[in-house]
Amino acid sequence: MKILKLIERKKVHQAAELLLSSESAIALTGAGVSTESGIPDFRGEGGIWEKYKPEIYGNIKSFIEDPRRFWELAERVAPKLFKANPNPSHTALAELEDMDIIKATITQNIDELHQKAGSVIVYEVHGNINRFICFGCRASYTKDQVLRKLKKEKNYPPRCDMCSAPLKPSVVLFGESLPTFEIYQSQALAEKADVMLIAGSSLSVDPVADLPLYTLSNGGKLIIVNDAPTHLDERAEVVLRHKTGNILPLIVEEIKKLKLIREEDEKSSS
Ligand code: APR
Ligand code: ZN
Repeated sequence: MKILKLIERKKVHQAAELLLSSESAIALTGAGVSTESGIPDFRGEGGIWEKYKPEIYGNIKSFIEDPRRFWELAERVAPKLFKANPNPSHTALAELEDMDIIKATITQNIDELHQKAGSVIVYEVHGNINRFICFGCRASYTKDQVLRKLKKEKNYPPRCDMCSAPLKPSVVLFGESLPTFEIYQSQALAEKADVMLIAGSSLSVDPVADLPLYTLSNGGKLIIVNDAPTHLDERAEVVLRHKTGNILPLIVEEIKKLKLIREEDEKSSS
């Protein structure tokens, strides 16, 4: 285990114990799990909303007024999203699903890195940057079709071939409703969860920020891994104020160790 202070090692051990003995654990992730893949987050140091005002660049009303502003931001951030690869945070969560410990990953991220790392049950509650839709007639376009369009037409926003309304990535902007099934399913999973592992989120945007309350209301426990404080830290069983890329693999390693010890104990007592 990397050089961690004793108290932190104890917390990694506690998180591993909680997850290993859980029956319905889920993960809730935010942009912080993707920063180590080169994708900026929103509210951390140097985050996107520091440079681009969300009410102008990330809001559906301003998209309707002038979609070019949103596309200006997309032009700067999207290439980082498209070329990013999963980092150890994503791999660790995929491994926890593989070990049948994490039953599902609810993510606010639009980068598809959980799926690229091997996670299968992923609920994208804020959409996905690799899918595009016409704001007028709802025709859907792939990322490659839109990139080809941008190359050819050379102006923003790319427009629909059918009705020439502006195209928009299938991501949720402020003022838009979340995909219904994903958010209802996430609420149901959070209600049922005996442990929620929260990684890389400031927990500042509703309704996702409420999901941990669903878990707490039914006696479930929270594990928060985040490099900055969140408003739920004092209600969490374990808070690890570290980089997710360091800590999540350590929790997986600790779970593997505990599993081995338990198997040895079972063998020696049988
Ligand atoms: N390890 C741990 N924590 C990290 C790391 C890291 N490598 N990198 C960043 N963080 C922390 C930041 O300090 C911050 O507290 O992750 C958190 C990310 O918070 P936000 O930037 O607010 O991202 P998120 O919680 O996902 O935002 C939710 O807000 O703007 C909307 O739609 C957008 O989905 C986004 C939503
Ligand atoms: Zn159209």
